Amino acid sequence: MSLAEKLAPENIKKLIPYQSARRIGGTGRLWLNANELETPLLFQDNQSALHRYPDFLPNDIAVAYQAYCETSQPTLAVRGADEAIDLLVRTFCQPGKDSITICSPTYAMYQFCAESMAIDVIDCPLQAPDFSLDVDAVVCAAKRSNLVFLCSPNNPTGQLLDRDSIIAILEQTQQHALVVVDEAYIEFELGQSVVELIDHYPNLVVIRTLSKAFGLAAVRCGFIIAQPSVLDFIAKLIPPYPMPDSSAEIVLNALSPNGIAKVREHTQKLLATKQAFVDQIAHLDWIERVYPSATNFVLVRTEPGFPLFELLLEQGVVTRNQAHEPNLADCVRITIGSEASMNEVGKIICNLPNRLTTSTPHNKDIDHEQTA
Ligand SMILES: Cc1ncc(COP(=O)(O)O)c(C=O)c1O
Repeated sequence: MSLAEKLAPENIKKLIPYQSARRIGGTGRLWLNANELETPLLFQDNQSALHRYPDFLPNDIAVAYQAYCETSQPTLAVRGADEAIDLLVRTFCQPGKDSITICSPTYAMYQFCAESMAIDVIDCPLQAPDFSLDVDAVVCAAKRSNLVFLCSPNNPTGQLLDRDSIIAILEQTQQHALVVVDEAYIEFELGQSVVELIDHYPNLVVIRTLSKAFGLAAVRCGFIIAQPSVLDFIAKLIPPYPMPDSSAEIVLNALSPNGIAKVREHTQKLLATKQAFVDQIAHLDWIERVYPSATNFVLVRTEPGFPLFELLLEQGVVTRNQAHEPNLADCVRITIGSEASMNEVGKIICNLPNRLTTSTPHNKDIDHEQTA
């Protein structure tokens, strides 16, 4: 019995995927099986058949992404990495019985998805001072967990997790848990992906997205890559028509050689902009640390109590306050924008008054928003 089969709850094992009209398919002359309109009504001059449901699984996209990742393992297109997280938790955990492991501070959606389904969360915090994995703690927690979420590069800290530590965890959890490596930001250090390890570790699942380096956050496209023994269970839960035709078309263009070349070129530019921004601000004496980043953001730690988030907001610059994270008080996460924006923000930061004693009121809406 595969690990995935061991972990999947009985109800998931028995589940027969919803038999949508597209999934059942068939051949014929008149298609009257899905309660659609038979001819286009609105947008008649549009080439795409908007009156028809899309494919139940966009296979051409899955194949294109497989080529992009240079893997022989199957890929499953989903509506963003967030849907990947949700599907994984729903496929492999039972409410009130199972648990997942996370390594805080990390992307908040792992915990949110689990807790929304009454699934326990075991936290094995990343270790100071460089947010490294506590391998022994994770391996120990994995014995009681169905899923271990590792985010590499990690949001909000920005660093890659150590590859040998990930391998050590994969080795020691093979009988217990699926290890999900969230590579949402991997294009910013593509050589560090662990996708090729899926060939050796049936307990490894990789999550990807087109929302970051590909610049397609509005399209809502992510991927799950894993061995078929794992992916087959997840595919059971996928909604009948997951991806709108309009998104599928954009995704296919993005994954063309032209699209990929553009992404690579832009990524290099963005990395140079990030370095210039870090060089501009790192010397300020109220900045304790700009953490190394393998992403399109940087985490800045100020001296205790310095209200960087609020001061930037006063000047119309919206960043992400990390005050809610126990080990990240006095940290602000700043996304790297265009060269012009980062020049401007760099100048604003350099001109902030040193050692402020007064603090400005928080903007609650922005301060408490915790996802992306
Ligand atoms: C680490 C990480 N994983 C997943 C996501 C969700 O990405 P998507 O837009 O593909 O749902 C984000 C979004 O910020 C993220 O930071």
